[in-house]
Amino acid sequence: MRKDVPLSIQTIFSVREIQAEADRLRSAGKRIGVVPTMGYLHEGHLSLIRRAKELADVVITTIFVNPTQFSVGEDFESYPRDLDADNLRAGEAGADVVFCPDRREMYPEGYLTYVEVETVTSILEGAFRPTHFRGVTTVVAKLFGLTKPHVAVFGQKDAQQAFVVRKMVSDLNMDVEIHVEPTVREPDGLAMSSRNVYLNRAERTAAASLYAALIFAEKQIQDGERSVEKLSGEMKKMISDAGATAIDYIACVEPDTFTPVEAIHPPRILILLAVRFGATRLIDNISVTFS
Ligand code: PAJ
Repeated sequence: MRKDVPLSIQTIFSVREIQAEADRLRSAGKRIGVVPTMGYLHEGHLSLIRRAKELADVVITTIFVNPTQFSVGEDFESYPRDLDADNLRAGEAGADVVFCPDRREMYPEGYLTYVEVETVTSILEGAFRPTHFRGVTTVVAKLFGLTKPHVAVFGQKDAQQAFVVRKMVSDLNMDVEIHVEPTVREPDGLAMSSRNVYLNRAERTAAASLYAALIFAEKQIQDGERSVEKLSGEMKKMISDAGATAIDYIACVEPDTFTPVEAIHPPRILILLAVRFGATRLIDNISVTFS
């Protein structure tokens, strides 16, 4: 651990200890906020920690690169990790506790239990990453069980994930308030992501086309465009021309149900995309409110 990590931050590695700490905090009448992450913290993550600090007395940031949400052939092994820097950043943003268990602590030998939200997890991200959301809901359910939060904060950057987590919490009657916060972007509009470090210079430049295409679509909708086919066609062209390797999907969904739509209806639509630049897969979205 670096010496410059704020003294007040507490780093916990074991499930037994985090449960004891959560019990202690609850007994002391503290409101617990949790921000689940996979680490390599950037301003997007830090904005969630700052928000959690406004909503709770004590903030627990979890850092765990969760193997069950990666498929075979995905970037689990190479996913960027820097626990010392993360501790420092999380502490500066207001986290009181960092929980960073290892793989065996979360999934001991013989682990057999999974949490699965149906239907909405098989479209969009779920269509390209079939076991992904099962891993996310399983780990988030476990992290909630361990940290016993009153409130948990997630990012709109992963809009489908936030929807799926809300559904799990509602369906399983989990007593956790879910907050979803806006996407933090680089100056050129690229959504911050731990995976942006994979991009080479040309790919990084090309990746700015994602937000440009989302903003273009927003403007078109405000100007009266209602055809998803036409919009996604134009967005595809912008992103391909910029140098994308593959476009996995561009879709419009009804935000309250996450149902894909063919025609755009007021008052609100969510436009989502997943695009590859080289070997790096990026996702982004925009919510458009109009009348
Ligand atoms: P990770 O990708 O590390 O993201 C942790 C949280 O930060 C998520 O809620 C995500 O939506 C949010 N986030 C990421 N980039 C953001 C940005 N640019 N602006 C605002 N928020 C942003 O999402 C996961 O980890 C995992 O699936 C997890 C929920 C921790 C389960 O393993």
